[in-house]
Amino acid sequence: MQSILFQLQNAVADALVKAFGEGHQNTEAFVNQASNPKFGDYQSNVALSLTKILKKNPREIAQTIIDNLDLDEMCETPAIAGPGFINFTLKPSYLEALIKELQNDDRLGIEPVDAPQKVVVDFSSPNIAKEMHVGHLRSTIIGDSIARVLEFRGQNVLRLNHVGDWGTQFGMLITYLKEAYPEALTKADALDIGDLVAFYKKAKIRFDEDEEFKESSRNQVVALQSGDVESLQAWQLICDQSRREFQKIYDTLNIEITERGESFYNPYLADVINDLNETGLLEKDAGAQCVFLEGFKNKDGDRLPLIVQKTDGGFNYATTDLAAIRYRIKEDEAQRIIYITDSGQAGHFAQVFQVAERAGFIPETVEVVHVPFGLVQGEDGKKLKTRSGETIKLKSLLDEAMVRSKADLEARLTEGDRQESSEFINHAAQVVGIGAVKYADLSQNRTSNYIFSFDKMLALQGNTAPYMLYAYVRVQGISRQGEIDLATLPTDTPILLTEAAELTLAKHILQLSEVLVAVEKELMPNRLCEYLYDLSRKFNQFYEACPILKAEGDRRISRLILADTTARTLKLGLSLLGIETLDRM
Ligand code: ARG
Repeated sequence: MQSILFQLQNAVADALVKAFGEGHQNTEAFVNQASNPKFGDYQSNVALSLTKILKKNPREIAQTIIDNLDLDEMCETPAIAGPGFINFTLKPSYLEALIKELQNDDRLGIEPVDAPQKVVVDFSSPNIAKEMHVGHLRSTIIGDSIARVLEFRGQNVLRLNHVGDWGTQFGMLITYLKEAYPEALTKADALDIGDLVAFYKKAKIRFDEDEEFKESSRNQVVALQSGDVESLQAWQLICDQSRREFQKIYDTLNIEITERGESFYNPYLADVINDLNETGLLEKDAGAQCVFLEGFKNKDGDRLPLIVQKTDGGFNYATTDLAAIRYRIKEDEAQRIIYITDSGQAGHFAQVFQVAERAGFIPETVEVVHVPFGLVQGEDGKKLKTRSGETIKLKSLLDEAMVRSKADLEARLTEGDRQESSEFINHAAQVVGIGAVKYADLSQNRTSNYIFSFDKMLALQGNTAPYMLYAYVRVQGISRQGEIDLATLPTDTPILLTEAAELTLAKHILQLSEVLVAVEKELMPNRLCEYLYDLSRKFNQFYEACPILKAEGDRRISRLILADTTARTLKLGLSLLGIETLDRM
């Protein structure tokens, strides 16, 4: 099934050809969801946009389009409104047929795309030997959700973890490892990350205070880069320790991601420099190799350089990203590359993309896009910190979400004669706690800063995960109480949509595919959250206006099917946000 919007767009495009010949139908945006139900369900402004070209009155154009439209099955006769808008109202019989089609369809009528695109989603990407922080948490949650939506749409997604596992800091870390933990090189598991972060700090102190230490750190970098076995072993050890800690977070969040860190691109860095040189973009500035950027100026108005090779021959974060772009395009055959980091890196990506484009590294068919997000703030509006003022560890943040949701669930799940097992409660606490953290993040417009508040994200009312999870349990419970095996209903069981609230709910259910198309295009998961929140509200209105269990005959069955379809839509939508559901709560 194609989305309703898509079908309307096609129908209007066909009508335009019939009415005015080829050449006027190449705008995609001429049909939209109506902004207000009084304009019908969908609306088109195409007649207005053609006024100048056709030199005719827009209402007249609108009428000609309507005369050439073939939509009898889908819509009532389209109406002309105001200066020349065309309003479309879907026919109940058409909606009934569509809802019917969803009945035994896990994908809820949403077909995968015909020609899957290869998409790289670069997300999470913490740094080795450093703590994974709340910025990485946002990247992980947003990246996972975007990847899930794209995957569901049928795209071929490569989820990449561009971990910071290379750079001069490893010289310092290896030197310190050898000095302070000589046994680490012969024994596995001698350190854990808690230590490793403290370890990083101690190494830094040694580095700053001792010239000799500094010197051997520099030698270590060279040794590591030239493949010295012992240095590589030490490096590997440090990376493994970090990796294990990162993995705990990914397991808790149920995230799939493939690690391909900065070090992976080492063999390709020299080629980047050579090719930049060949394109004539490379210039020497104070001993460093760089590309002067267009549109980036310092305060004196001089063009800023992007340094790709330092005076000492070392490469930068940007050089690695240039190599990564090329690798992803050439070897991974990516057609779209999506980078998810805080907005602080917007400048970095704009510069890297510009240089890659000017150097001809990005074919026209490939889209590279930075998906920025705002800061995570504490309830005081400042950087999120523990009460004692230290940076918050992700592990404890997620643990606290689960502890808090558990306290709440325990009180309610053991109320009266209700006795749920501790196993059930623990699982529910995890689903609600983690779901709350994810939903709080995803439901925001990602570009704004967001205030991290356990109380808000765990609230039972409002646009929160607990509210959505309860809505799911309730909706699903209603269809269960109907005691009808929906899977074995005869195929000719009719869907009956007569009441306004019923029609509104059905239309909303049928718009999931349009929302997913929008999320894929704009990379804004909050659109999906809004859709789901609206869905639960429209269900409530339906539930209030239309008796379900007390209805009779076919009407009762039809409403039970509508409730079941709502529940399945909620479940699917939440799963695309990376949020699990519970059957009871
Ligand atoms: N490791 C970086 C950081 O923690 C993020 C990497 C983002 N991805 C990229 N291809 N640069 O800030």
